Amino acid sequence: MEVKKIFLPESEMPRRWYNVMADMPTPMEPPLHPGTGQPAGPEDLAPIFPMNLIEQEVCQDRWVDIPEPIMDKYTIWRPSPLYRATGLEKALGTPAKIYFKNEGVSPAGSHKPNTAIAQAYYNKIAGTKKLTTETGAGQWGSALSMCCALFGLELKVYMVKVSFKQKPYRRLMMETWGGKCVASPSTETAAGRKILEQNPDSPGSLGIAISEAVEIAVASDDTKYALGSVLNHVMLHQTVIGLEAQKQMEMAGDYPDIVIGCAGGGSNFAGLAFPYIRDKVNGKDIEIIAVEPTSCPTLTRGPFAYDFGDTNQMTPLLPMHTLGHTFVPEPIHAGGLRYHGMAPLVSQLVMDGLIRTESIPQTETFQSGIDFARSEGYISAPETNHAVAMTIREAKKAKDEGKEKVILFNWSGHGFVDMAAYEAYMLGNLSNHELPSDEIKRALSDIDALPKPKQYKAGNL
Ligand SMILES: Cc1ncc(COP(=O)(O)O)c(C=O)c1O
Repeated sequence: MEVKKIFLPESEMPRRWYNVMADMPTPMEPPLHPGTGQPAGPEDLAPIFPMNLIEQEVCQDRWVDIPEPIMDKYTIWRPSPLYRATGLEKALGTPAKIYFKNEGVSPAGSHKPNTAIAQAYYNKIAGTKKLTTETGAGQWGSALSMCCALFGLELKVYMVKVSFKQKPYRRLMMETWGGKCVASPSTETAAGRKILEQNPDSPGSLGIAISEAVEIAVASDDTKYALGSVLNHVMLHQTVIGLEAQKQMEMAGDYPDIVIGCAGGGSNFAGLAFPYIRDKVNGKDIEIIAVEPTSCPTLTRGPFAYDFGDTNQMTPLLPMHTLGHTFVPEPIHAGGLRYHGMAPLVSQLVMDGLIRTESIPQTETFQSGIDFARSEGYISAPETNHAVAMTIREAKKAKDEGKEKVILFNWSGHGFVDMAAYEAYMLGNLSNHELPSDEIKRALSDIDALPKPKQYKAGNL
């Protein structure tokens, strides 16, 4: 019998997160203050984040200890199992060996609790009473709701309107865990009202929802803001995924030739990939691929530039791949991938040539999700299907070339609350949206006047 699942004992759980900043060939350019355009210091971030997380944001140490109370909560869903996708391998008739790290086993159904629990903990010990946040598909909002419940914090979630309508059960999950959830743009904030005045039918975007959540956090002393992706400390917390996977791959007696993750703001991709980036920097021959939708092609077509993290220009300017902070992506079903920007750490590593980037159209991702469900059993989140689709492309390529490649991908979440999207696909109601260059140019004209990073690179229009 072939080994299907590789379990890591709890006693072998990583006790430190890995900070890729210590091994990057090019130092990161600093975030800039949104008003002055000068490098932003810790005090500029203090209105929205507690100081212990700000310290992690700028930390250069290679390893950061995971506090015991977080380890304790991690054991609810960690270590997550590593699977060998034997059913998919057979269905494809590929000589490739396919492994996936199953992050869908967390109570909220995705990788998001890995950082949600850390952010809830650090806020709790810093004296925060209430958190605000945005959510796209609802995975992050529900993860943070659960983690706020576990550490006794209040939570308000601004959920992108199109997803709020597509996924009512995500809202109910948040409310079950005690969080409050409203559709964004909302009338509760100046940022939301401004968008609704311009476009009463706005489907919303992550950039708009972030503006709303930040506005509320800034207005109150005991309230802070939590972000589910993009920032350095979020990438740091997610590295438990890759650190566990490295041990499990060793137990399986294999080492990946190819590592794949879908990328919205970059966190599940970074979580699996960054420990392997370290290996690559140290000489390993390994291909690391970030996958995004063709309708929101931040890494594959956006420039590397300074841009705001939110639509209303409240966050610091980050050096990242971006489609412009006013860009509102098509309402595709992978709501968690509808973000105009990208983690600066992922962006810099793309600039350094350590990460390959690919984009895949929506219908191919759903077909891949169905092929995966029919061969492996698991139904993936629409975001995750981008990683599944890329894995299938690479496994077919290995077959064509007759190569026994080892592929490892991050199965970032399950799709139980996303079945309306599967229905739309199966009824033939989903379309692909190749983003026209003119639309990108229009959104990018809004960042023309912003400062440029030293390594500025124009987009692929
Ligand atoms: C299951 C799942 N995968 C991936 C993502 C994309 O986010 P990130 O790029 O931060 O991992 C999301 C975001 O909501 C998600 O819910």
